[in-house]
Amino acid sequence: MITLIAAVSENFCIGKNGELPWNIPEDLKHFKRLTEGHVVIMGRKTWESIPEKFRPLPKRKNVVITRQTNYPVPEGVEVFSNLEEALLAFSQQSVFIIGGEQIYSATIEKADQLEITHIQKTIPDGDAFFPAIDSNLWENVSEETHENFSFVTYKRK
Ligand SMILES: NC(=O)c1ccc[n+]([C@@H]2O[C@H](COP(=O)([O-])OP(=O)(O)OC[C@H]3O[C@@H](n4cnc5c(N)ncnc54)[C@H](OP(=O)(O)O)[C@@H]3O)[C@@H](O)[C@H]2O)c1
Repeated sequence: MITLIAAVSENFCIGKNGELPWNIPEDLKHFKRLTEGHVVIMGRKTWESIPEKFRPLPKRKNVVITRQTNYPVPEGVEVFSNLEEALLAFSQQSVFIIGGEQIYSATIEKADQLEITHIQKTIPDGDAFFPAIDSNLWENVSEETHENFSFVTYKRK
């Protein structure tokens, strides 16, 4: 099963200058709770956006996608130059695609589920975006509302 997990502003922004444009500890806890024990696949830029002391993300198989050869990563982290090969390698496991824009855009068509934190904020000067969530394709199956954000699960119709 392939799940895309992302925190998204009202204008679908996910990043600015290589970072998250907000700091929401409850969302980081939610991310940890959902992804622990599973495979997390991320683009090289997202990997580099995680401070060194927090990566690899513990209790998860960390997979980094890059076209660079011999890209250095700590022991236990797997690097793939081909996204399809990475998805195939872990096709029998629960895989979370954790960003960023390039990797979300390349995988949304293959995803079974989206775990989206909708953040009630507009980021006017963001530079990374989540693809459109087409309501003809995706059904909102659960929603947990908080003061400034909500956790929504979408399943493919
Ligand atoms: N809000 C959220 O939930 C969330 C989650 C994650 C990330 N983000 C944000 O998203 C932004 C980063 O997104 P991004 O789109 O710039 O970068 P990204 O998707 O994290 O990484 C892009 C890199 O991945 C590699 N790559 C992409 N497609 C590939 C393919 N088909 N085959 C092989 N390698 C491939 C390339 O690495 P090389 O250049 O090394 O070849 C490319 O430069 C940051 O601002 C980050 O904070 C937000």
